Formats: sequence, C-alpha cells, structure tokens
Amino acid sequence: MNGRKVLAISASPSEMSKTVRLVEAVLGVLRAQGIDTEHLVLRDLDPAALLAADFRVPSLAAFRDKVVGAHGLIVATPIYKASFSGLLKAGLDALPQFAFAGKVVLPLATGGSLAHVLALDYGLRPVFQSMGARHVVQSHFASDSDFPRGGEDIVLSEPSWAGLRFACDNFVYSLTDDHRASMLGHPRPPNVVRQNGEAGQAGANGTSIGTRLA
Ligand SMILES: Cc1cc2nc3c(=O)[nH]c(=O)nc-3n(C[C@H](O)[C@H](O)[C@H](O)COP(=O)(O)O)c2cc1C
Repeated sequence: MNGRKVLAISASPSEMSKTVRLVEAVLGVLRAQGIDTEHLVLRDLDPAALLAADFRVPSLAAFRDKVVGAHGLIVATPIYKASFSGLLKAGLDALPQFAFAGKVVLPLATGGSLAHVLALDYGLRPVFQSMGARHVVQSHFASDSDFPRGGEDIVLSEPSWAGLRFACDNFVYSLTDDHRASMLGHPRPPNVVRQNGEAGQAGANGTSIGTRLA
C-alpha cells in the first residue's frame, strides 16, 4: 500500500514467545492490506555487538538500516518487572538518537497482569518521543489469559482482538496519511541528518525539520 514499509521489532528472549506471536498476528492484518512488512527479533542479533553498539557487525548495521528505512515501526515487548524488557532497551540504546524521526510507531506488549498495562505509556512512549517519532499511536497490551496454553496460534479474547484491530487501524491510518507528514518529527541538527543519510530540510534556525521518505 503506497510503498509503505513496516518493520516490527520484537524483544522477547523466549523461543516460544507470546510477544512474537502477537506481532505475527498484527503483521498478518497489515499484509492483507498490501503493506510491506518485516519482522526483526532482537534475540537473533549478536548479543555482544548489540551491547557494544558495534555497527561493524553486519547484522547490527542491517538492524539500524532497516529501522531508518521503515515508514512505520511496531515495537513489541514482554513486560518484565513492571516495565519493558532490557533486551529492548539495549536495542533502542544501540540506535542513533533520532532513528525514529518522522515515523509512526505502534507499541505492543504482552504481560502476566493487566496491572502493568500502563508501562507502555509511562515507560516506552517517552523513549520513542526522544528518538524523534512523529506519531506514537494507541498501544495494545495482551495479557497471558489472551493466549491459549500450548498451541502455536494466537487466540485472543474478543475484547482484546477488537482492541488490537483498533490499534492496527489507527496505525495504518497514520502510516498512509498524507506522506508529507513524514517531514515532521523532532527537529534535529544537520550533522544527524547527514549521518542518517536523510534529505533534511533546513528550518528557519538552520536545523533540519525532518526527513521526507519516498
Ligand atoms: C522475569 C519476568 C518478569 C516478569 N514480570 C512481569 C511483570 O512485572 N508484570 C507482568 O504483567 N508480567 C510479568 N511477567 C510475565 C510476562 O510479561 C508475560 O508472561 C509475557 O507474555 C512473556 O512474553 P514472551 O512469551 O514473549 O516472553 C514477567 C515474566 C518474567 C519471565
């Protein structure tokens, strides 16, 4: 759809991750609408390179390039100790400061208890804002009770599925809205624009006012 690219980033260390399955369900919805999607699981990156932000390692450089090249990002995490996972923090910390500039972001989480549903908003949303996101849309949280025990397929309860569809619709709408909106985002200095290989536009004070994605 309109050449929009969506990169999903999942941050669970578990092999049978509910978070990964939640993301796959969302990507299925997006693909059915003709959106180009890719799913990157942080657990698959070289851990030493990730912790050292060593972009000489090809998989880490590819991670950065995929993030910078995407129009929309889905960022999904399990809730650990009332917040997002340390693996996700390591991944975000490795990226350039304004790697999310001009992008639409859909935050997702899975957790054992609804008590921590707001961790997405008080913990993760400010991080995305600091990385220059244009629009962080309504997040979605799925609790353990939304998943069947065992089975491969994601089975969400009806209210949770309705909430997830709403979050997807919101995300797609923002993603496919007038593409000039992608010029908006956090103002960032020209050297950052050059580092990201962006076609920045000089604002009145000489700083870039954003990136225009094709
Ligand atoms: C170390 C650890 C800490 C956790 N802490 C919380 C928590 O504070 N709040 C919560 O709701 N769930 C907590 N959980 C439950 C997980 O968030 C939940 O099972 C999640 O769906 C796991 O996602 P995954 O299957 O993708 O790894 C914790 C699980 C683990 C292993």
